[in-house]
Amino acid sequence: MIVIETINDLSHHIERAKSMGKKVGFVPTMGALHPGHVDLVRQASLQTDLVVVSIFVNPTQFNNPNDLLKYPKTIEADLALIHDLADLVFVPAIDEMYPTMHTKSWDFGPLTSTLEGYYRPGHFNGVCTVVEKLFNAVHPDCAFFGKKDYQQLAVIKALVAHEQLPVQIISCETVREEGGLALSSRNMRLSETQRSEAQHIYRTLSHIAEQIKHESIEAMEAWGRQQFEDQQGWRLEYLTIVDAQTFEPIEKKTPGRAAVALIAVYAGDVRLIDNLEWRW
Ligand code: PAF
Repeated sequence: MIVIETINDLSHHIERAKSMGKKVGFVPTMGALHPGHVDLVRQASLQTDLVVVSIFVNPTQFNNPNDLLKYPKTIEADLALIHDLADLVFVPAIDEMYPTMHTKSWDFGPLTSTLEGYYRPGHFNGVCTVVEKLFNAVHPDCAFFGKKDYQQLAVIKALVAHEQLPVQIISCETVREEGGLALSSRNMRLSETQRSEAQHIYRTLSHIAEQIKHESIEAMEAWGRQQFEDQQGWRLEYLTIVDAQTFEPIEKKTPGRAAVALIAVYAGDVRLIDNLEWRW
């Protein structure tokens, strides 16, 4: 595993691998790696010949400066976790990625304007800007993203289609703790009690996915929201059910079409997101 800090160095390694006919797999991360990330890197190592992981805490996607300050930085542990799976780890400094702090902006309708797009203004412009820069630096054949950030995944697919980027996006299942809590770098900021209470998120989503075929969407959304109303120390930001492709409200349960329930909820000052999809 080689750790690289500049785009120039990275290009040398990638060009050499490509000239030997190697397929390049890429896993972009912001570090604070956990087994969910390791799973993405493992998928990349199974499906491609040269695995590149980036570790870069992207300042432009944090709409809340406090969140950026508190973002965990665990580089030594991160490198140890992926040592046997990654070939190249790209760890650029901020000015390597941002000679100027300019971000582009994209409008993919409800994909970028609702939910995370609404509650975190500018977030997806920051994500798309850095992902496009990283794709331009790595030139991956495939890039691996987790379904845990479901809306991000949909936005990145839209970005790739819109900009005609020559990369295949591979969606990977969310990795969960035994009680169902989705693995996230933010979980390390939860207290023991919050961590155990957080299992409620997946229980609620699972119940919705089980019952939704017999109930109206509005009734299940209302039931889901109520689950967090009286929970002390918890504050629900959204819980909603939308079409999994368009993120538009569902007019009709069309057999075969995918839907998804998405949630964002605060445990104290830690913001957690999760989702669960199904087909009608
Ligand atoms: O999902 C993440 O960790 C980040 O949003 C990403 C895709 C690495 C861009 O900074």
